[in-house]
Amino acid sequence: MAGSNEIGIGMIGYAFMGKSHTLGYRDVPLIAPEAVPRPRLVSLYGRDAQKLEAARNRLGWEQGVTDWRDIVADDRIQLFDNSGPNALHVEPTIAAARAGKHVFCEKPLGPTADDAFAMWDAAHWSGVKHMCAYNYRFFPALQLAREIIQSGEIGEILHYRSQFLVSSSLDEKRQKSWRDDRQAAGAGALGDLGAHHIDLSRFLMDADPTTVQAVTRIKVGAASDGGRIETDDQFAALFDYDNGALGVVEASRVAGGHLVTSRIEVDGSKGSIAFSMQRLNELRVAGADKAFRTIPVMRSADPYQSNWFPPGHPLGWVDTFSHEAVHILGAIAGLHEVAPIGATFRDGYYCSEIIDAAIRAASLGQRVNISYRSVVE
Ligand SMILES: NC(=O)c1ccc[n+]([C@@H]2O[C@H](COP(=O)([O-])OP(=O)(O)OC[C@H]3O[C@@H](n4cnc5c(N)ncnc54)[C@H](O)[C@@H]3O)[C@@H](O)[C@H]2O)c1
Repeated sequence: MAGSNEIGIGMIGYAFMGKSHTLGYRDVPLIAPEAVPRPRLVSLYGRDAQKLEAARNRLGWEQGVTDWRDIVADDRIQLFDNSGPNALHVEPTIAAARAGKHVFCEKPLGPTADDAFAMWDAAHWSGVKHMCAYNYRFFPALQLAREIIQSGEIGEILHYRSQFLVSSSLDEKRQKSWRDDRQAAGAGALGDLGAHHIDLSRFLMDADPTTVQAVTRIKVGAASDGGRIETDDQFAALFDYDNGALGVVEASRVAGGHLVTSRIEVDGSKGSIAFSMQRLNELRVAGADKAFRTIPVMRSADPYQSNWFPPGHPLGWVDTFSHEAVHILGAIAGLHEVAPIGATFRDGYYCSEIIDAAIRAASLGQRVNISYRSVVE
């Protein structure tokens, strides 16, 4: 067992998200109050022993294992972190939850809604803490946006509008990866990028979509190594929400001039809010005067600011992983719940149900209703 104020962690994946989650854990002693347990980086899983050893050494984990079941069986580990590809989220996370480990899993929760539901069900009935890594919830400016929206300051919410635009599919040297494989990923731009904004719509408005109309397209059908691309690289959808709002969500991997653009706007009857990840320390807010003003979300009372540095020092995208790490560890220690700030596996399942409905709507060329299952029926 890890020491009394320590939580032992086992993690799947050591590439993009494995590195981001490791950085998040390493910040915990620097930014979290003492009551938050300190993470101990016990065990890292990867398939290739040589690459795993190099990653283990670089990222600072105690041991590497080439079978994730060794993490599930390891008594020193209380938190199972799944930062692997989507298809690998399901069986290991369910096994870990059933073994009594708290579970923290990357988004989308599973490649399909059925997978995500099975994960929520297992975590719920195992009684462990569960969090899906929708890290955009941990931008201070979006937490402020949520507060403003939910306070009623911008009135009745009428529109949610978002765009997540990258150009990675246009890279001529692109090799086929798990992201291009329908079974391994579930969806493309929709599940990878759109998923964040679908989750944020629920987070910001505290509302769920009830219907969807969508279009998905595969613009680039083959990678440079000849591998077939099976997942969408263009996605657009219209949603009706149960608060009466109309949602427009767009995502693309073929937006030629964009590295990573993530923009969100919410309009209410008395005002509007605008956020762009390129200016992530700012929130733009307009009231009845129709004049947008820019709030620097770096004041001492803004979320997380006092944990870091004196007010006014900007945070970055990577800091969301540190905020997430503090949040899940604090939830395990009973300092607060995962919800509503963190996405639970219920939230992860809801997003996956919405993604599946959008895929259905796109393939039928029709508007479809979205219904959600419950683990307690
Ligand atoms: N929260 C975010 O902002 C964000 C950003 C990117 C990715 N993600 C999510 O994080 C997860 C991981 O994505 P990533 O970008 O780190 O992927 P990645 O491709 O960078 O890394 C995946 C890792 O898993 C390994 N891997 C691939 N297939 C495997 C298999 N079948 N069995 C075991 N290992 C395998 C790869 O070797 C690699 O080390 C995905 O669920 C993705 O959707 C989230």
